Amino acid sequence: MLVMLRSTYEDMSREAANIVAERLRRKPDMVLGLATGSTPLGMYRELIRMHIEEGLDFSKVTTFNLDEYVGLPPSHDQSYHYFMKEALFDHINLNPSRVHVPMGMAPDVEAICEWYEERIRQAGGIDLQILGIGSNGHIAFNEPGSSLGSRTRIKTLTERTIRDNARFFANKEEVPHLAITMGIGTIMEAGELIILANGEKKADAVKASVEGPITAMMPASIVQMHRKAYFIVDETAASKLSPDMLEELTGRPNGQPAMHS
Ligand code: F6R
Repeated sequence: MLVMLRSTYEDMSREAANIVAERLRRKPDMVLGLATGSTPLGMYRELIRMHIEEGLDFSKVTTFNLDEYVGLPPSHDQSYHYFMKEALFDHINLNPSRVHVPMGMAPDVEAICEWYEERIRQAGGIDLQILGIGSNGHIAFNEPGSSLGSRTRIKTLTERTIRDNARFFANKEEVPHLAITMGIGTIMEAGELIILANGEKKADAVKASVEGPITAMMPASIVQMHRKAYFIVDETAASKLSPDMLEELTGRPNGQPAMHS
């Protein structure tokens, strides 16, 4: 795992978009794993800009989203289907037949989970997976305590995640309690991972994931085991890392800002 410290959210987002764009130019039919949430929005904006201004071509790309709420139709403005359309899909040239978001409204949700795993296998596996991190250390909807070898399945959201996500709904009661999520084992099979974190709210989870023990109670800590994982953080999300780690990342004692003379 490589930790990359960037000054601002915009720098973090640009860095991530540059990695995606570089991989895409190298492999135009890449399989790209996508995340929702507020963290990757800046990266999506940058990818859209690259598509419009630089002709970055997504026409042969296959995508798999990490998760979806159970019980929300794709037309619901808080469903992840809707979110992805607004944030990315409507603005780039993806082929809709190659876009996958778990179907939260499927009558047999368990069958959908198995089908999702099968589709990922048929596509040749995920080349690059984008991840955010929950303030409790979750990745996708793999909450603390999730098996580190888990596959795509239904999960119950924790109170903390429901509280964190309530900001997007009219009230907390409207937040679904169940979601379909790729498993941690599924995520770890991706060829490369980009895990993004910005803001003070993520600082504890970043510290525990980067410096703490690998444990199911901090699902993002498993990323330490991935050979090609880029943990890209902004300064506020990195603010609780140990002085040694900050010095390692910045090349400056205690990660102090460079002195300008
Ligand atoms: C979303 C997802 C979640 C989010 C996490 C952070 O697809 O998998 O794990 O990445 O909850 O959410 P934000 O970015 O809104 O802080």
